[in-house]
Amino acid sequence: MNQLLESNRKSWNKIAHYFNGVDALPSYGPFTQTEDELKLFDNLQNKKVLDIGFGSGHSLKYMAEEKGASELWGVDLSAEQKSAAEKTLQGLEPRLFCAPMEQEIDLPQDYFDCVYSIYALGWTTDLKTTLHLIYSYLKVGGSFLFSWDHPLYAHIKSENGVLTLDGSYQQERLHTFGKFKGEDAPMIIHTRKLATYINELIQAGFTIEKVVESEVGERFKAEDAPVSDRYYSLYKTRRFPSTLIIKARK
Ligand SMILES: C[S@@+](CC[C@H](N)C(=O)[O-])C[C@H]1O[C@@H](n2cnc3c(N)ncnc32)[C@H](O)[C@@H]1O
Repeated sequence: MNQLLESNRKSWNKIAHYFNGVDALPSYGPFTQTEDELKLFDNLQNKKVLDIGFGSGHSLKYMAEEKGASELWGVDLSAEQKSAAEKTLQGLEPRLFCAPMEQEIDLPQDYFDCVYSIYALGWTTDLKTTLHLIYSYLKVGGSFLFSWDHPLYAHIKSENGVLTLDGSYQQERLHTFGKFKGEDAPMIIHTRKLATYINELIQAGFTIEKVVESEVGERFKAEDAPVSDRYYSLYKTRRFPSTLIIKARK
């Protein structure tokens, strides 16, 4: 494992508990529409699904209990997340692997009806390899769906409610957070443009079926949105989509 991944893995192990049940289906992300509103997944009754960056396992639980998936597989970098997911998924016989998504780990090829990733794909250090691997895991006709921060959202900063561009959207680079969730848990993440996600999907062989720049979810529609300078806020999301969702097919 390269140094960057090793460092992120240590930090994820430290902060995993903050993410128990957070960023999990049916939610696609902070303040966004849900799967109940968007209905993006195919019929997954008795189908095989693979979760990339399964976190605490709540999305896989949703796949079993609400969508009727018959086989639950997942990959995640963090051993702490794997332990959490094993608890969440007790009795559902998941097949969980602790590994980086950008690494070949002999998962079955041409096997899954659906591969998905809720708020995890952007953590990859190698988007091209990750998307090629995901493509290889899918059956022909299978779907890949992911949600992640809208690539421009990360550059929009609120200062006393005035939204400004922070840094350069043009320049894709590695960004380091010294702390995460207030903990001494440095995280290194690639910033990427929207076109990079779309073009890498196309180059991996996918056909893009839908691109969603999410609106605010129904459950937040009646809520007040006072001025907020937080990274994620209803105030900011009312003005700019926090989440990008893409559905593609092999
Ligand atoms: C916000 S959580 C995802 C939540 C999850 N999708 C759910 O449904 O609960 C992000 C996850 O990505 C994982 N992760 C980060 N980098 C990764 C990588 N390179 N390969 C695999 N998983 C990674 C983290 O360990 C963490 O569990």
